Amino acid sequence: LSTAAQSDPDLAVEVVEETGSTNADLLARAATLAAPVLLVARNQTAGRGRAGRSWLSSSEGSLTFSLAWRFEGGLARLTGLPLAIGVALAEALERLGVQVGLKWPNDVLRDGDKLAGILIETQAAPSGGVWAVIGIGLNLVMPDELEAQIGRSVASLPWLARMDRDALLAALLDGLAGALREFERAGFGAFAARWNLRHAWQGETVTVLDRGTVLHEGSAAGVDDAGRLLLDTQEGRIAVLAGDVSLRVK
Ligand code: ATP
Ligand code: BTN
Repeated sequence: LSTAAQSDPDLAVEVVEETGSTNADLLARAATLAAPVLLVARNQTAGRGRAGRSWLSSSEGSLTFSLAWRFEGGLARLTGLPLAIGVALAEALERLGVQVGLKWPNDVLRDGDKLAGILIETQAAPSGGVWAVIGIGLNLVMPDELEAQIGRSVASLPWLARMDRDALLAALLDGLAGALREFERAGFGAFAARWNLRHAWQGETVTVLDRGTVLHEGSAAGVDDAGRLLLDTQEGRIAVLAGDVSLRVK
């Protein structure tokens, strides 16, 4: 990996050999950032996942990076951002010939296994607006011992792992930067149909869980213009807000 992945002149690209978490690093710097930064780590030793979980990766078989991007306005402007990032990743991967599905709220799946996870953390920007640190972890080839630690199978795309890392990163980044500008202009509404097109669990009976407690059960019917999951339950259609909830297919 090198800063040659740079394709957008307005984006500073930094590459480090090893760090704990690229999300933690950029969040710690958010108060002093003047412009968007992309931080790529060849190896992460304390990767963070959603809901306080850890994210495991290996330097040979994973791609781990974070993008700090400043948005005008308040947190409400970020509604649906994780889903829009999922769409951007999916579209970029499709351009590379990889067909993927999306699992609400923010997973990219390949044949049902997790290919990419997205973790967005935010911090108020001193100059106004809010910094979003958009962390992305891509599973390319997971070593057996890590897969055993994760406790479930994750995606495996050996040929993508063999692709030149700068080229892979540049391809993903191109899609991400474009999507972020579109999201700033139009919000999640511009992405909802594109998300629904790739909805992996459309029509499946799913449960929505909050730390193990079932909140809802119903048939998954895609997302609305705010990125809420539409569920057809026995009481009718409801819209579920993304928080720290998880989804399971029944
Ligand atoms: P989410 O809440 O993000 O939808 P999940 O609850 O569906 O995730 P699972 O995919 O069922 O989670 O389980 C995978 C668990 O392993 C998660 O806690 C996830 O954070 C963790 N994990 C750690 N490293 C990885 C990795 N590289 N790929 C996939 N999952 C990972
Ligand atoms: C999830 O739980 O699905 C989200 C995983 C996000 C992992 C990425 S890897 C790069 C960035 N740095 C981190 O510590 N986490 C994110």
